[in-house]
Amino acid sequence: MCPIDRRQFLQGTTASALLMASGGSGLLAAAAQGMPPAEATPDFNPDIELELDADIDEISILPGDTTRVWRYSGRVLRGRPQVLGASDGSGHIPIIRVRRGQKIRIRFSNRLPEESIVHWHGLHVPQRMDGHPMYAIAPGKRYVYEFVIDNRAGTYWFHPHPHGRTGHQVYHGLTGLFLVSDEEEDAAGLPRDELDLPLVIQDRSFNAGNQLVYIAAGMRERMMGFMGRQVLVNGTMDYQRMVPRTAHRLRLFNGSNATLYRLRWSDGKPLTLIGTDGGLLERPLTRETLTLAPAERADVWVDFAAHAPGEEIALEAESWSPMLVNITNMQDGAPATRGARAIARFRVGSGGARQTRLPPHLSTYPALRIEDAVNRGKPRSFQMSMMGGQALLNGRAFTRMDEVADNERVRLGTTEVWEFANDASFGMRMAHPMHVHNLQFRVIGRRGASHALSAGFTDEGLKDVVLVLPGERVRVLMKFENHTGIYLYHCHIVEHEDIGMMRNYLVQA
Ligand code: C2O
Ligand code: CU
Ligand code: CU
Repeated sequence: MCPIDRRQFLQGTTASALLMASGGSGLLAAAAQGMPPAEATPDFNPDIELELDADIDEISILPGDTTRVWRYSGRVLRGRPQVLGASDGSGHIPIIRVRRGQKIRIRFSNRLPEESIVHWHGLHVPQRMDGHPMYAIAPGKRYVYEFVIDNRAGTYWFHPHPHGRTGHQVYHGLTGLFLVSDEEEDAAGLPRDELDLPLVIQDRSFNAGNQLVYIAAGMRERMMGFMGRQVLVNGTMDYQRMVPRTAHRLRLFNGSNATLYRLRWSDGKPLTLIGTDGGLLERPLTRETLTLAPAERADVWVDFAAHAPGEEIALEAESWSPMLVNITNMQDGAPATRGARAIARFRVGSGGARQTRLPPHLSTYPALRIEDAVNRGKPRSFQMSMMGGQALLNGRAFTRMDEVADNERVRLGTTEVWEFANDASFGMRMAHPMHVHNLQFRVIGRRGASHALSAGFTDEGLKDVVLVLPGERVRVLMKFENHTGIYLYHCHIVEHEDIGMMRNYLVQA
């Protein structure tokens, strides 16, 4: 067996069974090594170089005892110090700020008690830089990422991706933002610096000692997905911020494991959507509500100049389970009004109002034309199912690190239509936010009955996650560019991903 096969074998087997089968610990030791970690290449010459550690720490989230979390933290070795910041709130969510075209080197150290690897969600990078679980490194080891930032300006993020443990690691705090800017975004003249606020929405449950409580490792629990008692914003329970009377850009990001949110403003004004997963829209849109599934991002423009000094405006959220049950009333927090709770409150400052104009034109999408699709009339179809203790894509689970089925091979340079079908004609009826690594797609069709969450879908712009409700079929258009190799597509309810609702696809030359 090659090292990858041994690793996969290990993951599907209990350690004791493996020890019996191998008659000793030699196989275990070899299995733990996996693929050789990438190292720094001397001729790469990065514009930005960072150290990034995954480690255990204690932070203050609730009054009283500190909470033990797993977190990323880092240092800038080359580049401006502002390249690495942190969200406001608890401060444990790092933010990497880069520009398109820059070369970045990230020296990742795994200081956790188990294996891990970092995935750059939404970024277009070579296979070895994508954080596929086959590259997971053991505790104490290092993996050096080097890539050119090739994405348009947008709100991307990073998280661990070790197979079967992503849910646990993300839940305990391993999440960061990766914000890319570019000239097109500069030209749009959007609010920046302290007027550009990332808001990471995550739900958590705490025990009486203020420690995080995750679900049991059972199949049933993981099928339901983790839903927390409290909704945190930027790692805090009661997110509040004083804001000057001018326009802001809010980068809303659902960093929860399984919970869907339906968001709205407390004063009933519509939300002004200016960007989605893969960057700015062509032009702003308005929505009464916004639906954000796990891993989805929505950039929203809001003008606090329209409000009186001292006024408070809240972002309110309804929480929904993947089974499409409104669970808002089962959670704690601010009192619910009209079924939603305030999760972030903005207190308008006392200064004079500064008028800003919302730019009518924001960006131009890269060419991605349905006419170019090689399978225009006959999309590659992926049926999702949840049955008999299994979460499957076209009847298959993620079993081997490098396994690719016939219908999972695509050609470099081609454009294709994929259809995610959540027919749910048998088994459990659940919503699945489908994610594809390595690219940004366009949502070109959605069929199925409409639901309370449907009006808030963010199907516009460039996307790397699309929510597919039970009974729906969603078509997306994508192009496989620049890199050959193995990439993943999976449900981004991380517990579903962990139990195998994830598959490889292979880009071939
Ligand atoms: Cu955020 Cu494989 O995904
Ligand atoms: Cu991803
Ligand atoms: Cu799912």
